[in-house]
Amino acid sequence: MKVGVIGLGYWGPNVVRNFLSTPGVEKVYCCDIDEKRLKFAKSRFPSVEVTTDTEFILKSPEIDAVAIVTPVATHYPLAKKALENGKHVLVEKPMTSSVREAEELIETSGKRNLVLMVDHTFIFTGAVRKIKELIEADEIGDIYYFDSVRVNLGLFQHDVNVIWDLATHDVSIMNYVISSKPISVAAFGAAHYNGIEDIAYITVNFDNGTIGHFHVNWLAPVKVRRILIGGTKKMIVYDDTEPSEKVKVYDKGVIATTQEGIHRVLISYRTGDMYAPKLDDTEALSLVCKNFVESIENGTKPITDGISGLEVVRILEAAEKSIKNEGKLIKI
Ligand SMILES: NC(=O)c1ccc[n+]([C@@H]2O[C@H](COP(=O)([O-])OP(=O)(O)OC[C@H]3O[C@@H](n4cnc5c(N)ncnc54)[C@H](O)[C@@H]3O)[C@@H](O)[C@H]2O)c1
Repeated sequence: MKVGVIGLGYWGPNVVRNFLSTPGVEKVYCCDIDEKRLKFAKSRFPSVEVTTDTEFILKSPEIDAVAIVTPVATHYPLAKKALENGKHVLVEKPMTSSVREAEELIETSGKRNLVLMVDHTFIFTGAVRKIKELIEADEIGDIYYFDSVRVNLGLFQHDVNVIWDLATHDVSIMNYVISSKPISVAAFGAAHYNGIEDIAYITVNFDNGTIGHFHVNWLAPVKVRRILIGGTKKMIVYDDTEPSEKVKVYDKGVIATTQEGIHRVLISYRTGDMYAPKLDDTEALSLVCKNFVESIENGTKPITDGISGLEVVRILEAAEKSIKNEGKLIKI
């Protein structure tokens, strides 16, 4: 299989490096409109072909699959053209800038029987896979809440606000590990410099009462990457800044009892052991590339397919709409 990677800025070289070591990939083509980035790619990966001609990658019969690693606003037009020219597509997160665009890409890939996958890299980390495994095995119980904080100083993006940049990761993780259905979104945010929101608080309500909350911020003095998941049986803390033991499972909770004749609920607290499960430390992006290539070879659905990309975009779009409407609850 021959793969073309479009966009060799910050993230693109990581995608190229991983495709070069993915079984089944015979050749990698690198494309960027910026010659300097191509020079850099050729010096780091001497075996790749390089070109500034994006149309060549999108149309050439030599290329079977395309990875789109360009700014968000370009995802839809590039992905659409690649699909229309019969290429399988791996598109960076967030999949598109709108629900309508995401739906169109799904339709086009479906009609042509092509693989459409989104690089929600976190889904492929050992930490997130372990969390899903614990929830599916009913170790955590029914989920009360999913609460994430992803904050740091910068990097200010010029084309997207902090929601599309940072919340994408946490929303994709939430959608992956929680099987119930999000039904509405409310959000507040503020823009301090260039009219683009640099801080936001998003709340997501689920059909079964689970609540999700996301704090994303480019104006924080320290880097925090923490997710809390509370369940009826146990609770999880996932701290991605920890060098090891990123996931900790707490056997803590609340027991509510009522006594006959007394109408007040009595709350008592249960605190048991904490443990840190062993996590697979395989590079997540290598698993993304492997899953993409295997889905093409075997005609199977990728783990982060177009639909999962759309479900993330649906929440981000609703959050943005809510911010513009002073926190109005938006049904999704
Ligand atoms: N999965 C992840 O964890 C992760 C991490 C970082 C970035 N990303 C995503 O990757 C994408 C790129 O982000 P980045 O930080 O690397 O951006 P970047 O600005 O550093 O790089 C983008 C590159 O695309 C090139 N480009 C733009 N339009 C092009 C076109 N039409 N044809 C060819 N080249 C073109 C630019 O010249 C630039 O070199 C974004 O969608 C971002 O959200 C994902």
